[in-house]
Amino acid sequence: MVNFLSSVMKKLIILTGAGVSAESGIITFREMGGLWDKYSIEEVASPQAWKKNPQLVLDFYNTRRKQLLDSQPNAAHRALVDLERKYEVHIVTQNVDDLHERAGSTKVLHLHGELMKVRSEKNEKLISTLNGWELKLGDKAEDGEQLRPHIVWFGEAVPMINNAAKLVKSADIMIIIGTSLSVYPAAGLLFEASKSCLKYYIDPIAETQFLPGIELISKKATEGVPHLVEQLLK
Ligand code: OAD
Repeated sequence: MVNFLSSVMKKLIILTGAGVSAESGIITFREMGGLWDKYSIEEVASPQAWKKNPQLVLDFYNTRRKQLLDSQPNAAHRALVDLERKYEVHIVTQNVDDLHERAGSTKVLHLHGELMKVRSEKNEKLISTLNGWELKLGDKAEDGEQLRPHIVWFGEAVPMINNAAKLVKSADIMIIIGTSLSVYPAAGLLFEASKSCLKYYIDPIAETQFLPGIELISKKATEGVPHLVEQLLK
C-alpha cells in the first residue's frame, strides 16, 4: 500500500540551509554577526584545523551541540512534515542540526554531516551517535582511533551529493529555504532540477537573487513556509 501510494504521489524535494533553523535560535553562517564572522573556517572547519588544533575544533562543535540540545524545531520545520500527507517528500539539508527529524520529517539527507554524530578520524564509515554534547580528546572509536565530529569540512568530499542530485532530478516540485546558495556542490543542486519542476525559494533575501524560473518568496521561514505548505496542500 505504501509503495503504491508513493508511486502515484508527486515528488517534492526541499533543500534547506541555516535560515530554516534561525528562528529556533541557531545562528547562521554568513549573515552579519554569523558564525563565520566570529570564527575562521580554516581554524575550526577544515582537516588542517583538526591537525593543527583539535581542541579548538572540538570546542567549536561542542558549543554548537550544546546550543542544539537547547533548541526546538520551529513552525517551518513542523509545516514541512504536513507535506508528507500529500507528497513523497525528501528533505536535503545542508544543516547539521536534527531539527527536521525532531519535527517529524521521515526522509532527511544531510549533505554536510550531523552534529549529534561522531566518527573515527581514520575511518569515515565508523559513525556513532554521541551521548550528550561533549566530545573530548581521548574519546575513541571502535577501531581505537580518536573520534572526530561527523561533519563534512571544507576541503573534504561531500559523499551524499550524488544521492541528492538523483532526488532533485526526479522532483516535480522543489522548495529551497534559508540558504545563501553560496556553498558548492550543495548550491549547484538547484540546476539539477528539470525544466518542468516547479521551484520556490523562501528566504528574506530571495528577491535580491537572480534566479529565473523560480518563484521568489522574500519571507522568514516561519512565515513563508507554513503559507506555501497551505497552498500546496489545497
Ligand atoms: P548561510 O549563513 O550562508 O545563509 C543563511 C541564509 O539564511 C541567508 O540567505 C539568510 O538570508 C537566510 N535567513 C536568515 N534568517 C532566516 C529566516 N528566519 N528564515 C529564512 N531564511 C533566513 O547558510 P547556508 O546557506 O546554510 O557548511 O550555508 C551553507 C553551508 O555553509 C553550511 O552548511 C555550512 C556553512 O559553511 C559547513 O559548515 C560545511
